[in-house]
Amino acid sequence: MIDSTGNPGPTRRDFVSSAALAVTAAGVAASAGFPAILEGAAPLSLPPLPWAENALDPVISAKTIGYHYGKHHRAYVDNVNGLIAGTPLEGQSLEAIVRAAASDPARKGLFNNAAQAWNHSFYWNSLKPKGGGKPEGSLLQGVEAAFGSFDGFRKELLEAGMTQFGSGWAWLVAEGGKLKVVKTANADTPLTSGQTPLLVIDVWEHAYYLDYQNRRKDYLTAVVDGLLDWEFAAKNLARK
Ligand SMILES: [Fe+2]
Repeated sequence: MIDSTGNPGPTRRDFVSSAALAVTAAGVAASAGFPAILEGAAPLSLPPLPWAENALDPVISAKTIGYHYGKHHRAYVDNVNGLIAGTPLEGQSLEAIVRAAASDPARKGLFNNAAQAWNHSFYWNSLKPKGGGKPEGSLLQGVEAAFGSFDGFRKELLEAGMTQFGSGWAWLVAEGGKLKVVKTANADTPLTSGQTPLLVIDVWEHAYYLDYQNRRKDYLTAVVDGLLDWEFAAKNLARK
């Protein structure tokens, strides 16, 4: 666990699977150029949610979103602003701050808060009301090539979320023209691993405990089947 001030927990990064086949979309960028909503400016602001707080109900309740976004995400953003005030990082994009802090062990607290701020923005944008289902076009081809079938991908993503011990994240990423499912612990993010994040699911308990208590698999299944935004994933894949 990481508290709101960013005290570091385990930094182990587990890569679950690297099932692979070439992704024939317009090229997989090295994670540059994500939407402005994910970048911010000085002082960094809490980006607005892409939907109303009750829009994901009943999969994720408005109460959960209210705490998760309004308390947890906001705290990460506030902590970053406090930690970069008066430093050369003030005025940098959130993505640049994450990258800078990741390479400096003395800035572990800043990394934890900045990466959590970035990961949460990415998570909100990975979800939409009445989402789920299958991707289309070259993204579906990439999924089927990498995982054998969409069901193979679905099973692997659920497994990643279930087997992330403690707090963390389950991701679909692209790396070297291949799609992969990976999991990261605590605040760790594929942004700093040369991977292009396409979708993510938050598996910290604060993401689901009010609605599902300890039933993480029920939360994961409901999110994968009902909320994932494949259009967001396709945009990330195509982005250079
Ligand atoms: Fe979270």
